Amino acid sequence: MTTVSDETAKVQDALKQKYLHHFNRQPVFSAYAPGRVEVLGNHTDYNEGFVLSAAINMGTFFVCSPNDTTTCRLVAGDIMEETVFDIAKPEKVAEMTWSNYVRGVIDGLGIDATLPHGFDGMFLGNIPLGAGLSSSAALEMSSALCLSALYGLDTSDKLNLAKTGQRAEHLFAGVKCGLLDQMTSLFGAESRLVHTDFRSLQAVTVPISSDVCLLMCNTHAKHSLTESAYNERRAHCEAAAKAFAGLLPHPVTHLRDVSSVEFEKLRNQIDPAAARRAAHVVGENTRVEIGVELLKQNRVAEFGRLMFDSHESSRHNFENSCAELDFLVETAGGIDGVLGARLSGGGFGGSTVVLTQKDAAKTIGDVIRKAYQKKYDTVCDIQVLLPSAGARIITD
Ligand code: GLA
Repeated sequence: MTTVSDETAKVQDALKQKYLHHFNRQPVFSAYAPGRVEVLGNHTDYNEGFVLSAAINMGTFFVCSPNDTTTCRLVAGDIMEETVFDIAKPEKVAEMTWSNYVRGVIDGLGIDATLPHGFDGMFLGNIPLGAGLSSSAALEMSSALCLSALYGLDTSDKLNLAKTGQRAEHLFAGVKCGLLDQMTSLFGAESRLVHTDFRSLQAVTVPISSDVCLLMCNTHAKHSLTESAYNERRAHCEAAAKAFAGLLPHPVTHLRDVSSVEFEKLRNQIDPAAARRAAHVVGENTRVEIGVELLKQNRVAEFGRLMFDSHESSRHNFENSCAELDFLVETAGGIDGVLGARLSGGGFGGSTVVLTQKDAAKTIGDVIRKAYQKKYDTVCDIQVLLPSAGARIITD
């Protein structure tokens, strides 16, 4: 039996109240999906590589009831903004763009199923927006589960749900993301990291020592995946894979197919910028695989060092870090009790994830917060992230 934390339960209650007030009735269906933190394996998912991540103790609730028209009324519970559209035409919009994630999910669900009527829906969450913790995937997965319950659709194929969310990102939000965010939100488990192979699309979980915890440090520096930077990096990786395909005797469809030995042997034969992008992805894949073994042996200090290496590679090879993220990682690295730190997610702003000894976490958080305030004269939000259970339909 999974329980939501007190903080999350408050969000659920607030949503019920808002729904009742707005629609004058109780919602019939309800689902929850957590955000995620990427712990190791950066920009490896769309390169068919490996990632270690966790579903977190913050997420989004989506509730709805059927109505007897074909109209969908969808409300963002934080700002109480409502958008209205026909269930047969959940088109992408340029205003109230928050609704595109749900519109995209409905469009995806409608490919194989008949959605015969509209609904009155609302969502509310507690994932800080723009922090790199995948509030969008949480919205996609909570709406996909809730609307599947509403229309009587099978939700046993989690991979299929994840792909529906990814399709919404690609076609309705314009971000050519991989499957990391959606898979982690769905496959998360309490006190465990999710280890995903993005070629076989198999996700298994690995326990992480209860002596350590993760801190999220949100820079509030600009972070917008819809900007071209993310898609551009993806294109660089595809170009690098093509270059290696021309040099290696075996098939190379993605950077996953290039081993670190092959990379070192051939790196000078491809464009230097492409080689640096590839260095990041190939290196990250290796670090994840080593990291999994270290976690299994409870060697968390060595695991933490891989996180620092990962950040260094982001900074130098993938160029998806920024001054604020670098400052946080460097600051964390100088504090006793910190085991590892790196940027988490797409990059170009957002958050760092810091691995600390649990008993020192609060003190460490305070030191980081003060240092950031001193340097940038602005607040860096710090929260303890607990690896948590994945998305689910709520029956009560
Ligand atoms: C974002 C994307 C993911 C993944 C990460 C980087 O979170 O949505 O698919 O590519 O960036 O690892």
